[in-house]
Amino acid sequence: MKRFSLITLMCLIMSSMALAKDVKVSSPDGSLTVTVGIDGGKAWYQVNRVGNEVIVKPSALGFVLKDGDFKDNFKMGKVTRSSFDETWSQPWGEDAQVRNNYNEMRVCLQEKSGAKRALDVVFRAFDDGIAFRYEFPRQKGLQDFVIMDEVTQFALPTDAPTWSIPALTAYYEGIYTREPLSKKGSMSGPIAIEVNESLYMAIMEANLTDFSTMNFSHQGTTLKVDLVPWKNGDKVRVENTRVSPWRAIIIGRTAADILLSRMPLNLNDPCKIVDTSWIKPTKYVGIWWALQKQRWTWSQGERHGATTENTKRYIDFAAHHGLGGVLVEGWNYGWDTDWTKHGDGFSFTKAYPDYDLQGLCRYAGERGVRIIAHNETGGAAQNYENQLEDAYRLYESLGINTVKTGYVNSHFYNGELQHSQWGVQHFRKVIETAARHHLMIVNHEGAMPSGIQRTWPNLIATESMRGQEYNAFDRRGGNPPYHECILPFTRGLGGPMDFTPGIFEYRNDSVPGTRPQNTLAHQLAEYIVIYSPGHMAADQIENYEHQPAFKFIEEVPTNWERTLVPFAAIGKYVVYARQERGTDNWYVGGVTDAEARDFDLSLDFLGEGKYQAIIYEDGPGADYRTNPYPMTIRRLDVDKATVLHLHLASGGGCAIQILSI
Ligand code: NOJ
Ligand code: CA
Repeated sequence: MKRFSLITLMCLIMSSMALAKDVKVSSPDGSLTVTVGIDGGKAWYQVNRVGNEVIVKPSALGFVLKDGDFKDNFKMGKVTRSSFDETWSQPWGEDAQVRNNYNEMRVCLQEKSGAKRALDVVFRAFDDGIAFRYEFPRQKGLQDFVIMDEVTQFALPTDAPTWSIPALTAYYEGIYTREPLSKKGSMSGPIAIEVNESLYMAIMEANLTDFSTMNFSHQGTTLKVDLVPWKNGDKVRVENTRVSPWRAIIIGRTAADILLSRMPLNLNDPCKIVDTSWIKPTKYVGIWWALQKQRWTWSQGERHGATTENTKRYIDFAAHHGLGGVLVEGWNYGWDTDWTKHGDGFSFTKAYPDYDLQGLCRYAGERGVRIIAHNETGGAAQNYENQLEDAYRLYESLGINTVKTGYVNSHFYNGELQHSQWGVQHFRKVIETAARHHLMIVNHEGAMPSGIQRTWPNLIATESMRGQEYNAFDRRGGNPPYHECILPFTRGLGGPMDFTPGIFEYRNDSVPGTRPQNTLAHQLAEYIVIYSPGHMAADQIENYEHQPAFKFIEEVPTNWERTLVPFAAIGKYVVYARQERGTDNWYVGGVTDAEARDFDLSLDFLGEGKYQAIIYEDGPGADYRTNPYPMTIRRLDVDKATVLHLHLASGGGCAIQILSI
C-alpha cells in the first residue's frame, strides 16, 4: 500500500506524481514495465516483463559534462504520465499502416545541490519494447554545453548469444558475429540478443539527430553507451537540439517479433515533407558491378564505364524490362587520381567528355527511365556541401530524381569521424537539401540508420553494412552464407538496406574464388528478405539476358501492404511473407545459412479465393559451395488452405510470387 502525503496527493490530482520513491510505467498490454528510481543520488531504470521476469537490471542514467558530472546528485522531481495511440501511414515501407501505441512517463531528475539543474528522462513503454531519451531543458547552469560521456547502461541479467559488429568497423561494413555478450569487445548498434527461447532483444538508437552515434562498451553483461567523439574529444555539443536520440530496446518472445517491431519508426518524428507524391523509389540497374569486378573503371581511359554508349545500353535494358532507374558511377570529374585521398577534386556538376549528361537524361526520360546520379565524396564532405545546392539544382532540372552518395574514408577532411556529431549533421544536411530539390537519397557508407526515413522518406536506402559488393572484391572469398540471416535482425532494424541483390554470374576473373557464397535462388530471395523500397538488379545487364529467373526481379514489388515473418532464427534462416501494396498478391522470400532446410509454409495469410504461386527454388544439386546455379521454377494453384513444402539448399533460398487470380 502506498502512503500519500499531501503533496503527492496534490500532484496526482495534477496527473503527476512527485517525491515518490520508485516510479513505474507499463506497456498498453501490461506485459512490460519500466521502473525508475534514485539511489544515493544516482538515477537508474529497470525493465521487467510480466511475471517478474527481469529483462534489464537497474542500469545507470546520466552524463558527464565538460564542466562536471550530471549523474550522481539527483533527487526525483516531477513525474508526468501520458498515453498515445495512433495509426499512421507511410508512403513506402514494409507495412502501409503503422500503429504507434505507448504509455509515457517523463521523469524530472533534479540536482540536489550546486547548480540544481534539471534533466528530464522520457520513457515510453510499448508492447514490443521500451525506449527512453534525455531532454535538456534550457535553464540557468545548462545553456549550451558539451557532453563528455553518456553513462547510460543496459545491464542484462544473464550472458546470452549476441550478434554485433565491432565499434570501429569502417563504414559498418563488417560481418556480424555471434558470441556471448560477455566475450564481445566494443560494439556498434543495433545489436541482437537471444536471451533464451522466449526472450529476444535488440538494442539500438532511434532518431539520431544532431547527436553523436551510440556505440557500446561493456563489462560482463552490462552494456554502456560509448558516444563517438569529435576530434578534440568532445562527444556532443548541445546547442539547438535539446534532446538525445532514443535508446531503444526491442523485446520479443520470438526472433520474428524483433523483425516486426515498428518501434524504431514510431520513435521518429512524423514526415516533414508535405507533398510526398514525388517520392517514387524504383528498381534500378547500373554501371556498377563491372566496376566492382574491375572490368570497367570509374576513371577516364580505355575501360571507362560511364560512357554515353554504355549508359544508353543500360537505359534501353531498363526500359525494356520495366525498371525505372539507371545508376551511373564515374560520370563526373574527380576519379583520375587516388580519389580516396583527393576527394576535394570531385566535381558534382561537370561530366567527363565521353559522358553526355544532358543528352542521356533526355534519352532516359523519353523511355520512362531516370538516371541515378552518383556523388562519391571520398570523405571530402565540405567539398560536397559547397557544391550541394548547385549540383542538386542541376539534377532536378535534368529530371534526375535520385542521388547515390558515398563516403569512402572513415574520417572527413576536417578530421571529424563519419559517425561523430559533425557527420550526423552533414548527412542530415544532405537529406534535407535533397528534399527541397525533390531528390531521393541512397546513402553509401554514412550514418547508422535509426528510423529517420519516417521523417525524411526521401532517404530511401542506406548501406552502412557489408553489402553484396564484397562478393566482387573481398580477398577472403565474399560474405558468408549466414550474412543475410543476420542483417534483418541488426542493421535492418534502422531502415532500408541498399544491399544490391541479384548477382547471376558467379565467376570472378579479377578475384578468383570471390563470389556470392549462396545460390541463385538465395539471390532472388534477397529482394524480399532484405527490405528496400528501391532495390538494384546489381549484375551486369548481359548476365540477365535469357535468364528465366530474371522475371522475378522484373516483377517483385518494393512496397508492401503488410509484412509477416513465418520462420526466423537469428543467423540461421529467415522467411518473410509480404503483401504487395494495394493488391491481394503476396510474395515469400526465405534464405538459409550453410545448412539445407525444409519448411512447411501455411498460406493461411492469403485472402479468400484462388491464387497462382510461381515458385523459384533451389534445383537438384544446388549447393552454394559446389553449384549455385540449379533452379526450379514451378507453378501451382493455391489457396489459404495450402501448405507449401519448401526446400532450401545449403546457402540456398526460395522466392515465391503468389498472385491472386
Ligand atoms: C563504395 C560504395 O559502397 C560502392 O557502391 C561504390 O561503387 C564505391 N564506393 C565508389 O563510390
Ligand atoms: Ca560501401
